[in-house]
Amino acid sequence: MQLFDVYPIFDIEPVKGTGCYLWDQQGTQYLDLYGGHAVISIGHSHPHYIHRISEQLNKIGFYSNSVQITIQQELAKKLGELSNKSEYQLFLCNSGAEANENALKLASFHNQKKKIIAFQGSFHGRTSLAVAATDNKKLIAPVNETENVIFLPFNNIETLQETFHQHEISSVIIEGVQGVGGIQIADADFLRAIRECCNQHNAVFIADSVQCGYGRTGTFFSHDQANVQADIYTLAKGMGNGFPVAGIMIAPHIKPQQGILGTTFGGNHLACAAAMAVLEVMEQNNLVANAHTMGEYLMQQIRNIQHPAIKEVRGKGLMVGVELEQGDEIRKRLLFEHHVFTGSANNKNVIRLLPALNITHNEINQFLEAFRACLAVQYA
Ligand SMILES: Cc1ncc(COP(=O)(O)O)c(C=O)c1O
Repeated sequence: MQLFDVYPIFDIEPVKGTGCYLWDQQGTQYLDLYGGHAVISIGHSHPHYIHRISEQLNKIGFYSNSVQITIQQELAKKLGELSNKSEYQLFLCNSGAEANENALKLASFHNQKKKIIAFQGSFHGRTSLAVAATDNKKLIAPVNETENVIFLPFNNIETLQETFHQHEISSVIIEGVQGVGGIQIADADFLRAIRECCNQHNAVFIADSVQCGYGRTGTFFSHDQANVQADIYTLAKGMGNGFPVAGIMIAPHIKPQQGILGTTFGGNHLACAAAMAVLEVMEQNNLVANAHTMGEYLMQQIRNIQHPAIKEVRGKGLMVGVELEQGDEIRKRLLFEHHVFTGSANNKNVIRLLPALNITHNEINQFLEAFRACLAVQYA
């Protein structure tokens, strides 16, 4: 049987990883500033992560959500403390799309309304409602087409308010920093306007924090920087450092009802052990603060290069976008000539930098040296 060919892939096979580094079969070392789509939060093969998962597997790896699973409560407690949202409730699932799917569905159960506001440039996943709320027609199959999603311009308060007056809105879903959309930052005023509209019209504010959450932007949630509390936060990616685990954090006024959400795998013992290991390492090593400091350093150093091909450097913490004249070319040079992994975005001229939250100055300097060298060769 052949694999279903849906991914454009590089002819590189990493066989080993440690921290911010990967090695292929030939022993070539790669610097990883992408973490496999923003997933690697505490570095590849962190010893505490390996220990926690192995220890759990030696006891029990899985049982379904029909029995007591104490480690779920431990995870909810730790996550509540570190995100400063102990009063929220946690529902565990398996992927970012599933988290958003559940969030949109729960919002509709809660207020019995149907319409969703999403924004231009958004990416929320590939399942039915999540993809319908994603601003990319190519990903939406005919069966996913729905009139329930209204796309509005990002950061435009006026159209947001008008739309709330014209329609019965169930929920608004927004990334605090758009990832696939090319590292576009939601204005603090815009997030506050969404909060106000949701309060006035009994709508649910969903903060898609799958990519911009979990400490990456220098606060636990990027939305925190606008002093805004969402009703539901969706989590995935960095939560498990590569182990598939995701969740939604739900404000106390949204009440559970038996059976409205569910999953077979979500919240299994191994997934929770992986998620606990991530939070423990984040706490012990102050990784949210490190993301802030290192992100500022990284962005400042790139700006200092002052090369005419660098159009803009934008981001928060370790969620950084560098818009270039020939971004795709530079990205390929970084990978094939300097062995540095970076990401792209909908706009191929944007290079996305999403390294592990424990990246060091030395590793950033190594990237900067490679980046300068690529610019020098490309524009020689
Ligand atoms: C903001 C955002 N939401 C949701 C998703 C979907 O996550 P997953 O691929 O785990 O389903 C992604 C994935 O890139 C994302 O960036």
